[in-house]
Amino acid sequence: MIRLLDNYDLTAYNTFRIRAKAKKFFEFTEPDELIFFLQEGGLPGNFFVLGGGSNLLLKNDFNGLIIYPNIPGVGEVGEDRNHIFLEAGAGVEWDELVRLSVVFELGGLENLSLIPGKVGAAPVQNVGAYGVEAKEYIHLVRAVDLQTGQKVEFTNEQCRFGYRDSIFKNELKNKVVITSVVFKLDKFPEYNLEYGALKAEVDKAGETTLQNVRDAVIRIREAKLPDPEKIGNGGSFFKNPVVNDDVAKKLKDEYKGMPAYPSGIDDKTKLAAGWLIDQCGWKGYREGNVGVHSEQALVLVNYGGATGAEVVALAEKIKQSVNRKFGIELMPEVNIIG
Ligand code: EPU
Repeated sequence: MIRLLDNYDLTAYNTFRIRAKAKKFFEFTEPDELIFFLQEGGLPGNFFVLGGGSNLLLKNDFNGLIIYPNIPGVGEVGEDRNHIFLEAGAGVEWDELVRLSVVFELGGLENLSLIPGKVGAAPVQNVGAYGVEAKEYIHLVRAVDLQTGQKVEFTNEQCRFGYRDSIFKNELKNKVVITSVVFKLDKFPEYNLEYGALKAEVDKAGETTLQNVRDAVIRIREAKLPDPEKIGNGGSFFKNPVVNDDVAKKLKDEYKGMPAYPSGIDDKTKLAAGWLIDQCGWKGYREGNVGVHSEQALVLVNYGGATGAEVVALAEKIKQSVNRKFGIELMPEVNIIG
């Protein structure tokens, strides 16, 4: 199914609930429909690909084309001794995929429960939570190349995944549209309960099962992160900064108890942006329609009626204060458009 609409209201398509319009909006439900659209010369210079809009801040109306891959479907596409391969369309709700994987008793995605957004966006920013990143379970990414109009695929290695990063944010930005993702899930789950309070929360249920881990993650997320259905937000607004080990050590000496994690990169340490922002006194701060979530300083919220520019202005103040106090430059995790 194709829909091509003019002056389309995006309020329902971004979890920050910013009121903004797109000049043109193209929705499709099969890869061939996108290919047809490209053949017909439908692609203008100014466009972007929209997923669940859960990691997006619209600064203004968007004076171009929004491509909305709303491809449905989750199905088994292969099997080996230890794995089942599940393919999911780009338009599938991420948490619906996680829910199904747990129902099928396949291990891997349970720690990533309740992350808002769609399957097609998961490889782009390599979504992660509670010690797991999507890259560990992504086998193959299928896409359409916007220049050639051909179907293409990327192996896990070709995706060049990093912390909230991949080739789709870099070399292939605006070059391909992801249409589906094949996940390689474990028939014999290996639980990952190392992160923070996850194990204790799972233990409350008595035994460690995929469903109990999923339920525990959901409880933890619900306690800390605002439900975008109730209060507009884009999840973590900033990335956790990755700094040189010596910078981290200096800060740790000065601020006892500062959280710091291995970054997976030599000589670099990951710090907690939420902690840095919290230390600057922003948690629970409100200014007009925008604010900083009371339970998690990394999340900026729209109390209703905020403009994208108001959110950006608050983010800028936060960024400056963290820089002044800690000498660390925060980078946005959300995609700011306009
Ligand atoms: N902290 C504070 N004050 C705060 C927030 C955090 O002191 O206001 C401290 C916490 O106590 C903890 C540390 O900072 O010691 C890290 O906080 P938390 O465990 O809540 O995780 P995070 O680093 O803030 C990251 C992801 C989240 C993901 C959680 C859980 C990023 C940018 N964010 O948050 O992802 O759910 O870990 O794994 O990596 C998202 O990307 O939108 C997102 C929500």
